[in-house]
Amino acid sequence: MIRLKDVHKTYVNGTHALNGVSFQVDDGDFAFLVGPSGSGKSTIIKLLTGEIVPDRGRVMVNGFSVSNIREWQIPLMRRTVGVIFQDFRLIQNKTVYDNLALAMRAVGASRATVQERIPYVLELVGLRGKEKSFPDQLSGGEQQRVAIARALVNNPITIVADEPTGNLDPAMSLEIMTLLERINALGTTVIVVTHERELVNHFRKRVILLDRGTVIGDGVGTYEVEA
Ligand SMILES: Nc1ncnc2c1ncn2[C@@H]1O[C@H](COP(=O)(O)OP(=O)(O)OP(=O)(O)O)[C@@H](O)[C@H]1O
Ligand SMILES: [Mg+2]
Repeated sequence: MIRLKDVHKTYVNGTHALNGVSFQVDDGDFAFLVGPSGSGKSTIIKLLTGEIVPDRGRVMVNGFSVSNIREWQIPLMRRTVGVIFQDFRLIQNKTVYDNLALAMRAVGASRATVQERIPYVLELVGLRGKEKSFPDQLSGGEQQRVAIARALVNNPITIVADEPTGNLDPAMSLEIMTLLERINALGTTVIVVTHERELVNHFRKRVILLDRGTVIGDGVGTYEVEA
């Protein structure tokens, strides 16, 4: 479960990025996080991955409290969250297979687990047969599917995606979002940050609307007003 309670975050330069954000995403749920540029979406993603900590309030990530986590627990917390970015962030001189294998070895997965898990996730994202390809031999949509596979290999509780379709054309974007929906249907909690109103409205999912560091809307429906 993901829970933010009255979260405040001011960056060192004095920018008030979050001014009392509260919401909860239960295990197995799907939520879009939307709002204008600068409203605090990426700041929330960074809190969920433990990259930054709140100044005030509470951030709970799958049983861990980001504000008073012990040093040794940070990797354990991070392991529960798979992250996907707009720019894919694949390792360019490694094959698809090695990008995934590396993510698994980083958390100490055994050789047998790696060999068993990679074909499963590649099948799930529709990339069987691309094991030996390098990222620059793949389309943008395929690269993003590799990134999704990498986010999934260690079987996280939650997937967070920050503008995952920002670099993709509309058809590709719809495919990627449909894949995230399918992953959610298989039990993973999914939180997706996006600007793309049409895409959000295509899926009838929960929409958490941010504006200037506060939640101004939260419910199943459409993303209509840009506040
Ligand atoms: N490292 C940082 N240092 C200082 N200010 C920052 C930093 N990161 C973000 N901000 C500021 O905090 C506010 C929220 O930024 P954030 O990146 O969370 O917005 P966003 O909703 O993700 O926007 P976008 O849609 O453009 O990605 C903005 O005013 C931004 O300029
Ligand atoms: Mg952002």
